[in-house]
Amino acid sequence: MSKQRNRAAILISGSGSNLQSFIDHIERRELDLDIAVVLSNRADAFGLQRAADAGLPTAVVAHGDFPGREAFDRAVAGILDEHEVDLVILAGFMRILSPWFVQHYAGRVLNVHPALLPAYPGLDTHQRVLDAGDRWHGSTVHFVTEELDAGPLVLQGRIAVRDGETAAELATRVQAAEHRIYPECAALYAAGRLQMRDNAAWLDGEKLEKPLVRDF
Ligand code: GRF
Repeated sequence: MSKQRNRAAILISGSGSNLQSFIDHIERRELDLDIAVVLSNRADAFGLQRAADAGLPTAVVAHGDFPGREAFDRAVAGILDEHEVDLVILAGFMRILSPWFVQHYAGRVLNVHPALLPAYPGLDTHQRVLDAGDRWHGSTVHFVTEELDAGPLVLQGRIAVRDGETAAELATRVQAAEHRIYPECAALYAAGRLQMRDNAAWLDGEKLEKPLVRDF
């Protein structure tokens, strides 16, 4: 009996270059996933155009229209549930999710963060890496839990920081890496090989004590 394809929602706030990478991987048949809906909290997010160009359903839920975080999250979840989504992919979604949302989709929310977590949660990661004089930087795909940027780590794309590199140059190279590792991670999930349980990531039935690393 063939397994039904996973239905993913991709949540964005901006450019949507990660969304584009998912679209391209699916078109090339390198990722066996349906994008059921692309949802943005900003009506002017360029990623909505990318979604429309690819013929994908889109939705906008403006966070300013809601009295608080959970009310916004419940509206978002209402749309995702209508689309019978079983995986939520955060791709540059610049809203912190409420505990209610994280529990509603427990173990089914992935995020990409532009740093080698647990180093540098939060914002301005590229400049912070340069200020610290680090030799390595990159991006991490992780499961989302209630604590920001702190859920179980799955896969990292790592790059060596070059002499004299600017934060903008670093950002470009980190993004190129995440465009590869994020669809790879979603493919593992879609194949049923990757799960979150007991606050840990499991791959092929083995607990991941540390994230997988790809060097770029
Ligand atoms: C990415 O760099 C990601 O790491 C961060 O937000 C950025 C989103 O970029 N969470 P895009 O909208 O996918 O182009």
